[in-house]
Amino acid sequence: MKYLLGIDIGTTSTRTIIINEDGRLISSSTKEYKMYTPKPGWAEQDPDDWWNAVVYTIKDAVEKSNISPGKISCMGLTGQMHGSVFIDSYGKVIRPAILWCDQRTQKQCDEIYDIFGYKNFIKLSYNKALTGFTAPKILWLKEVEPENYKKVAKILLPKDYIRYKLSDTYATEVSDASGTILMNIAKRNWSDEILDGLNIDKGLLPSIYESTHISSNISEIASKITGLTKGLPIAGGGGDQAVGAVGSGIVKEGLISDYLGTSGVVFAHSDKPVFDSLGRLHSFCHAVPGKWHLMGVTLSAAGSLKWYNDNFGPSDNISKTYPDKEEYELLNKQAENIPAGSNGLLFLPYLSGERTPYADPYARGVFFGISYMHGQDHFVRSIMEGVAFSQFDCLSLMKEIGIISSKIVLYGGGAKSKIWRQIISDIFGTKIVTLNIEEGPAYGAALIAGAGCGIYKSVEEACDSVIKEVNKNNPIEENVLKYNELYKIYNSLYKNLKDEFKKIDSIS
Ligand code: XUL
Repeated sequence: MKYLLGIDIGTTSTRTIIINEDGRLISSSTKEYKMYTPKPGWAEQDPDDWWNAVVYTIKDAVEKSNISPGKISCMGLTGQMHGSVFIDSYGKVIRPAILWCDQRTQKQCDEIYDIFGYKNFIKLSYNKALTGFTAPKILWLKEVEPENYKKVAKILLPKDYIRYKLSDTYATEVSDASGTILMNIAKRNWSDEILDGLNIDKGLLPSIYESTHISSNISEIASKITGLTKGLPIAGGGGDQAVGAVGSGIVKEGLISDYLGTSGVVFAHSDKPVFDSLGRLHSFCHAVPGKWHLMGVTLSAAGSLKWYNDNFGPSDNISKTYPDKEEYELLNKQAENIPAGSNGLLFLPYLSGERTPYADPYARGVFFGISYMHGQDHFVRSIMEGVAFSQFDCLSLMKEIGIISSKIVLYGGGAKSKIWRQIISDIFGTKIVTLNIEEGPAYGAALIAGAGCGIYKSVEEACDSVIKEVNKNNPIEENVLKYNELYKIYNSLYKNLKDEFKKIDSIS
């Protein structure tokens, strides 16, 4: 029996898993770390916290698996996208990494449009310049910390910093590199035109490979530190969304997934490079060789329900009725008490601004239509509905450019809720399925590694052999009709409040 290792360097923690060639989870280990906010809107992490967590979780997962490291055939890396790790010529980190959720670079995003023209930049990069993406962070370093910029010898994405620590090799792959917005997405390589326009030296960037490519091997030093075998092949891997989609089988034309985690992501596979001419969807290379994907992001999806639970929690009533149930199960029960549409209570889930479709850092959460009849149960259900409406916004943009699917694969923490699954099915008007595998990006990274070292013929074959559908929800006609009407109101609320969001930000 052969084994594969997958590592996901996430924002809150690193997770390492070992699976066997049949796709069965053998062991896993997770280690958390901090995110720092030295100024409002900033989000930074110490790359060495990731490295320490990687070392700890590799050792722990191998120990729990009871298999000898020599039996691991290959490993794959994934992680949070868009982060910038600035490295000097001695291979040392120059300053804390600036993360995907950092908002400091609006000025640099505007400068990018000044250089290329707004529409032309979308044509060149297939994407908008968003504050969280990597390119504006490089410009920020050049302008605001020029003494640090002078020292930069390499700019790496989070998982590629870990690759460097494991193998002494600078390399990246197409799916994560797409989120730098420095690529020619159709050609799957760095864009000379964008790099020249931004005056960024290509030598500062690592070489780009396909995600299954064995880009490096475990070095002698890393072997001593982690206990993994020297020379163990490391596949390219990919950004967490593309690799999470691989772990959920979204590897063929016509397949769309909805990831309901802290943020919510609607993700569509595409055999061709496609993009939204207004840049509302992210258009990136997929972690499947020679394929692409589109993605729409709701920043506060299950994060909205977590915010509610952390601040208000389940009602006393429901807690007394079900004394043995966990908090989120109780919230599900509360939502089940209320009819579709929450008796006219609508929620906009923009707790930390929004990416798709508005790309507006000033947008904020709203409850609309509150009356005396609304109680705690209504608020819970309307949060679930508001998140589903926001994800429907993403799905509708895909439909606009001709990407459709007869079913949506739902995964992530929110997919465990039966009532939320039904709400999503009713609001999307589409069949929803869930899967036997719930491991997300770390699992996808292990499958990509398996395809990279020939255990599977391809990423597609790996998914076909291990991922199965387990649950399905079909839309309830009566609810679909009601939600169609409510969506029109939901949709008009942002437009009516857009200017007010900015005003309230300036006085708060
Ligand atoms: C994708 C994105 C997030 C981060 C963190 O565009 O910003 O998925 O990768 O998970």
